[in-house]
Amino acid sequence: MNPYEPGELVTALVAHEPGAARRRETVRVVRSPGRVNLIGEHTDYNEGLVLPAAIDREIRLAYLPTADRRVELTRLDSGERLGFDLDDPYRSTGTWIDYAAATAAALAEASLATEGLRGVIASTLPENAGLSSSAAIELAVAWALLGDAADGIDRPTLAQICQRAENAFVGVQSGLMDQFSVSCALAGVALLLDCRSLEWRPVALPEGVELVVCHTGSQRRLEASEYNVRRAECEAAVEGLARLDPSVRSLRDVSPELLARGAATLDPVVARRAAHIVAENERVRTVVAAFEAGDLAAVGAAFHAGHVSLRDLFEISSPELDALVEIAESVPGVVAARMTGGGFGGCTVNLVRPEAIDAFTAAVLEQYPARTRLEPMVIPVAAAPGVSRIA
Ligand code: GLA
Repeated sequence: MNPYEPGELVTALVAHEPGAARRRETVRVVRSPGRVNLIGEHTDYNEGLVLPAAIDREIRLAYLPTADRRVELTRLDSGERLGFDLDDPYRSTGTWIDYAAATAAALAEASLATEGLRGVIASTLPENAGLSSSAAIELAVAWALLGDAADGIDRPTLAQICQRAENAFVGVQSGLMDQFSVSCALAGVALLLDCRSLEWRPVALPEGVELVVCHTGSQRRLEASEYNVRRAECEAAVEGLARLDPSVRSLRDVSPELLARGAATLDPVVARRAAHIVAENERVRTVVAAFEAGDLAAVGAAFHAGHVSLRDLFEISSPELDALVEIAESVPGVVAARMTGGGFGGCTVNLVRPEAIDAFTAAVLEQYPARTRLEPMVIPVAAAPGVSRIA
C-alpha cells in the first residue's frame, strides 16, 4: 500500500495525535511538490528568466488545526517531532523545523492570520538535492497555517512571502523561482517566469521526450554560504557595469555588448559570473522557442552550453554532476542533459526519448558508481500542479 495516501496519513496522524480521532472532520491533508528547473539557473535573483516545472515528487502534510498557537510536526520517515510557538520570535535551530518557523514568521510579518496545528509529514522528495524540498515544506506549512484562507490568497504573493521566509529568517538569499514553482505550477507544463516583472506563462514540454531527474547521491557542500557569495558577486558586477552605463540596475539590463566592453574593468571572477547570467537569460529564450518549434537538437545544445557555463563560469557544478551529464550525453536518445538547481551536488535534469529511458538508466547505474563511488538515483518525473489541499 502506498504509505502516502491521504487515508494512511490521517491514520498516522491519529497514531501521533490521539486527539485527531475525535475531530477527524477537521483534519486536512496538503500536498506540496518539488521542482526541477529546465533552464535559467541563478538568473532569478538577477531579475532574469527561469523555466521550472513542479514535479510529482512531493511533501504531504496531514494536520489537525488547534487553538493553542503551537505548531508540532512529526516526520514519518524518522519519527522526529519538532515544534515552535507561533507567538515566539523566530529562532534558528539548524533543523528542518526552521523552514516551518520561518514561514510562520513571514506570514505574521505579512499580517496574515495563522492557527496552531499538530501534523505529520511524509515525503517522496529527496532532500538537499536541488529539487526545492525547502520551498515545498514552506508552501505546505503556509497552506496548513492559513487553513481554509489559503485558497483565497494570490499564489504568486504567497510565493513571495515564502521567499521572504527563506531570505529574512533562514538566511539564504535565494530568488523567487523555487517558491513560485511550488505555489503556481500547472500540471503537464513548465512555467516561463520573468523574475523582474513577475509576468509568467505556461510552456508546453516538447512532444516525444520524458523528464528524467538523476540524483548524484552527493550531499550539497557549502550551499548556503556559496550561494550568498554568488549573489554578492553578481551584485558586484552590476555595480561595476553601472559605471559604464548608469541605466544598469541588475544583470538583466546587461547586453552581451555591454559586458564585452565592461568585462576588463571587472574582477575576473566577477566577470565570469556576469557572463554566465547574461548568456543564460538568452538560453532560456532559446529553449522556449525550441520547445515551441519541437527543435530538440536546439534544446540539447542549449542544455549543454548551460551546463558548461555553470561548470566553468559560474563554478557551481561538481565532478559528480559533470559525470552524470557526460554519461547522459553518451546515450543515444538522451536529447538534453544539465545540472539543475542551486548546484554543488544534487541533481541533473534530462530530456529522454521514452524508448531510451531503460538504456539511459542502465548506463547511469553501471558507469556512475564506477566513476564516483556513489549510488545515483534515476527518477522519471512528470510536471505536476502547485501546492493544493487533497483532503
Ligand atoms: C536555488 C534558489 C533559487 C535559484 C536556484 C538557482 O534553488 O533557491 O532561487 O536561484 O538555486 O537557479
